[in-house]
Amino acid sequence: MERTLVLLKPDAIQRDLVGDIISRLEHKGLKLVGLKMMRLSSALLDEHYSHLVGKDFFPEVKSFMQLTPVIACCWQGTDCVNTVRALCGITKAREAAPGTIRGEFAMSVQANLIHCSDSLETAEVEVKRFFKAEELFEYEDILERYIY
Ligand code: PPS
Repeated sequence: MERTLVLLKPDAIQRDLVGDIISRLEHKGLKLVGLKMMRLSSALLDEHYSHLVGKDFFPEVKSFMQLTPVIACCWQGTDCVNTVRALCGITKAREAAPGTIRGEFAMSVQANLIHCSDSLETAEVEVKRFFKAEELFEYEDILERYIY
């Protein structure tokens, strides 16, 4: 089953939007299989944003992502990578479609609330970057057996 990485950025935490964002992904039908709060080290950010090294905004990306801890989540579901990207909206939040998380709640390219993996290949690498195998969970929908 496909999995993807989501980081709730410092602006999501500062603006008390953590619950709302997780709720939207849950209500869509995606399954939360990993969740933790963490401070991002400089080394981890260099690795995670290695494709941005050399861009003039790279130092700001790093400092922004270290303003507070972030919340890392791993989501699972059919076509999960594309589904999460669609729910998040485009990086330039001001132009993100109404109805998307960024489209509803954000105005900035940097303070755009969420990072999500941009392809299946990236997702596999990013999930491993943020989660050890034992921090990810497999579980069944157990509620069916309690309907009586
Ligand atoms: S690129 O080069 O824009 O295609 O890279 P992308 O993979 O979209 O990642 C961009 C991430 O950097 C953050 N950021 C900015 N992007 C573009 N322009 C400016 N000025 C800028 N400032 C910061 C942006 O929030 C993306 O972060 P993630 O965590 O990947 O969403």
